[in-house]
Amino acid sequence: MRKTMNYVWMGVVAVLALSPAARAFPRAQQQEVASTGKAAAFVGSDLFRSYCATCHGEAAKGDGPLASMLKKRPADLTMFSKNNGGTFPAELVGRIIDGRKQVDGHGGKDMPVWGDAFKEAGGGSDEAAIKARIDALVRYLETIQVK
Ligand code: HEC
Repeated sequence: MRKTMNYVWMGVVAVLALSPAARAFPRAQQQEVASTGKAAAFVGSDLFRSYCATCHGEAAKGDGPLASMLKKRPADLTMFSKNNGGTFPAELVGRIIDGRKQVDGHGGKDMPVWGDAFKEAGGGSDEAAIKARIDALVRYLETIQVK
């Protein structure tokens, strides 16, 4: 039963992520990402709210509305710096998000591989556009680290 629910919710998330609304916003915002670092943090928070908060929660504490339906609890994403001697491991976080770095529970049912998901979401599907979105997410996560 739990397993079935995982698939059901994964479907819900996939539909949300690929919906026209989700598809429409990143294009305009990519330009902002390119131009100012400040806007990039703002963009990252939008991306986070659209693609990640359902599982990880609005405050990235791992307590989104879907969290309790998942077999594995989504991680608290505010502890990277603290757990890494005060330095935010940006490169590692980027690799986790785009799926190059395999971690437990990723690329499976519980967390999509975003490098691939963004590729299919339109609004600029080339490598640079995908990287811009992942970078924006990474920079946003850096701003919400627990000190
Ligand atoms: C369908 C639910 C779901 C969605 C949506 C989701 N995640 Fe996750 N995420 C998880 C789960 C489950 C884990 C695995 C936790 C573990 O293995 O301990 C995880 C782990 C992570 C990790 C690794 C944390 C660590 O400490 O190693 C990062 C980084 C992460 N997610 C970022 C994101 C970002 C950024 C997004 C949005 C682009 C996102 N996640 C969307 C469920 C989700």
